[in-house]
Amino acid sequence: MNVVASSPEGLEKFLAKEISDFGGKEIEIFKRSVSFKCDLAVFYRLHFYSRIAFRFYREVARFPCSDKNSLYKGVQSSFDWIKWLPADKSFCVQVTGKNFFLRHTHFTALQVKNAIIDLQKKCLGSRSDISLKNPYLIIHLHLNNEEAILSLQSTVDSLHKRGYRPLMADAPLKENLAAGLIQITEWEGKTPLVDIMCGSGTLLIEAISQNLKIPNITKKNYLFENWIDFNNDIFISEKLKLKNNNLSKFEISKVIGCEINIDVFEQAKKNISLAGLENFIEMHNTDFINLVINEEPGVILCNPPYGRRIGHEQELIDLYAQLGEFLKQNFSGWTLWLLSGNSKLTKFLKMKASLKIPINNGGIDCRWIKYLIN
Ligand SMILES: C[S@@+](CC[C@H](N)C(=O)[O-])C[C@H]1O[C@@H](n2cnc3c(N)ncnc32)[C@H](O)[C@@H]1O
Repeated sequence: MNVVASSPEGLEKFLAKEISDFGGKEIEIFKRSVSFKCDLAVFYRLHFYSRIAFRFYREVARFPCSDKNSLYKGVQSSFDWIKWLPADKSFCVQVTGKNFFLRHTHFTALQVKNAIIDLQKKCLGSRSDISLKNPYLIIHLHLNNEEAILSLQSTVDSLHKRGYRPLMADAPLKENLAAGLIQITEWEGKTPLVDIMCGSGTLLIEAISQNLKIPNITKKNYLFENWIDFNNDIFISEKLKLKNNNLSKFEISKVIGCEINIDVFEQAKKNISLAGLENFIEMHNTDFINLVINEEPGVILCNPPYGRRIGHEQELIDLYAQLGEFLKQNFSGWTLWLLSGNSKLTKFLKMKASLKIPINNGGIDCRWIKYLIN
């Protein structure tokens, strides 16, 4: 199968490594996506274990396409819709990209839809309904100048929604972005890990989940179960391999979360418990200034407010200055990873960065910055 995985911007090479680790081949990295080849077992496995992918798209056809007529004909002739889409099942169409004659994705999607239902009416005498919420197939068309690529999307919901976070703190990180940030730190569960402004706990939950290789198996609407080549034996055999994951047998170094806001703190505790990780994370409801940690040096994570979504820049200057002072006095020898969305504020830490990695956090151009605290 030819597959494309969509990725948070800045984490593509980490997604490529995940895909390779779980058996994907011929991997190519693009902006916000990674393409690869795999068999069904690897495809199903990746749905359980990829921590970074948003979605997977399986390519089913590719054809030259310059305008609405070649699109209509190409859609009808390049794939066996009659076999894959019974008329009593619904579908929806999504479009990305454009070319000279097909500039509006909504119009292009309409053309694709018409091509499929016209074909169904001609061959079957009836047609599928369109469903955006609960489709049987999600058909994705990507236009790249004069070429169209048709794919099937494999889940309704994005895989970043793990299901442990129904309760949202202010400005939470997406779970897959948090997972990628942790991969960048190279934390492997052998040194202490502290998130001193942990919000809903996402970074800590993702850090432990991926180090313990906890699969991502909350109820997902796997559309690949509707595909005519779905192989239940392979799917079940991949699922059975997951069952050997007994959390109680794992040991991991000390993991600590700190959150000042009592409501957010309570949410974080609930999220951690939903993720099944309450025995792995020690939570403190306090200002980080009161945090006393008697551990060997490890990794400190920090996703502080940065004035766009919560807090105001002026008020935050004191917070950053206090944070820099506190870390230098109490965490000598530790490594700090801080997600900065505001370089003006980061200067008030008065610390020297050793690495800055560009990351897009929900449309905000951020830096994941490493500091060696001395
Ligand atoms: C941007 S949010 C962190 C979001 C988190 N990474 C998540 O995914 O949910 C920043 C958090 O820092 C907390 N915070 C602000 N000042 C703090 C302080 N002095 N001590 C501890 N936590 C603080 C806020 O209450 C907020 O929940």
